[in-house]
Amino acid sequence: MNAKKSTPQARGRVFSGARPTGRQHLGNYLGAIRNYVALQDEYDCIYSIVDLHALTTLESTENLRDNSYEMALDWLAAGIRPEETIVFIQSHVPEVTELHTILSMITPLGKLTDLPTFKEKVRMHPHNVNYGLVGYPVLQTADIVLYKANLVPVGIDQQPHIEFAREVVRTFNFRYKTDVLIEPQMKATETPKVLGIDGQQKMSKSLNNHIEMAATPEETTARVMQMVTDPARIRRSDPGNPDVCNVFSLHKIFSSPEEVAMVDRECRRAGIGCVECKQLLARNLNAHLAPFRERRQKLAQNPTDVWDILRDGKERARAIARQTMEEVRQAIGLP
Ligand code: TRP
Ligand code: SF4
Repeated sequence: MNAKKSTPQARGRVFSGARPTGRQHLGNYLGAIRNYVALQDEYDCIYSIVDLHALTTLESTENLRDNSYEMALDWLAAGIRPEETIVFIQSHVPEVTELHTILSMITPLGKLTDLPTFKEKVRMHPHNVNYGLVGYPVLQTADIVLYKANLVPVGIDQQPHIEFAREVVRTFNFRYKTDVLIEPQMKATETPKVLGIDGQQKMSKSLNNHIEMAATPEETTARVMQMVTDPARIRRSDPGNPDVCNVFSLHKIFSSPEEVAMVDRECRRAGIGCVECKQLLARNLNAHLAPFRERRQKLAQNPTDVWDILRDGKERARAIARQTMEEVRQAIGLP
């Protein structure tokens, strides 16, 4: 009666997913990608481009392929190592949809409609509240448990979904008297608050307040020069307050401690002007991104390579998925 269990992992397994949003920006980098890269040193990692999740809100699928490719390119150029890490496109492993269906049968509808993330989506897309949108967290749970992940690095906004996933796993294992599904832990990504160039809202592509990782140095500098600074500092001779300035926030990430101290000090006594301050930031940002951009360009010279990596990721992901599904079907007693 016991299905062969997949071999327990020597290292813990990490799974995370992101919707294919195309070229990534500094917010994506600081909030997720940087962390994905670091986790590879300690865990077996699986990173998925969740195109099926994207379908819950997408009006057009026209750019889905390009956006998936561009995002994969950014991940790889940023240091995701496909020799160790599995990088793949969610829909390439159709077992996830089977598990989604199975898990949906043990999910009370009210739990889904009560989730703050669902309510927010309804607010944002009142005319497109589809069945798949309600089931979004079930699909996300299927993602995570299909690969028996122990750890899920996500932003704090995803906490309700991870908590939900844990409950589904407990329910499943209890209901079918099994331990085939693994209860995942959330690993909240410590993210510096990355605002857009407007200095007001979170950096996001849809608000067009973002700085792309893959932008040219000239484009990057131009974007930095547009950044909104301390609004109280009107003239060059006005002292500023770096604590309310998004330029300073980015200095703290991309500039040396000496430069950060200098800006902190000189801004307050009008010793440095905002133009000069931004020029320094743009220089440091471009220096930081230069190796990334070089790797990206090399990878992009042969797009087939990236698709090959994604295909290889699919094969490796699918081997795990098949095994899990066998165990799941057996645990349920599906004939
Ligand atoms: N819902 C996640 C987000 O919007 C994306 C996602 C889908 C995900 N499946 C996942 C994240 C599995 C972690 C694990 O950010
Ligand atoms: Fe912001 Fe720099 Fe201007 Fe100070 S000097 S307000 S930190 S841009």
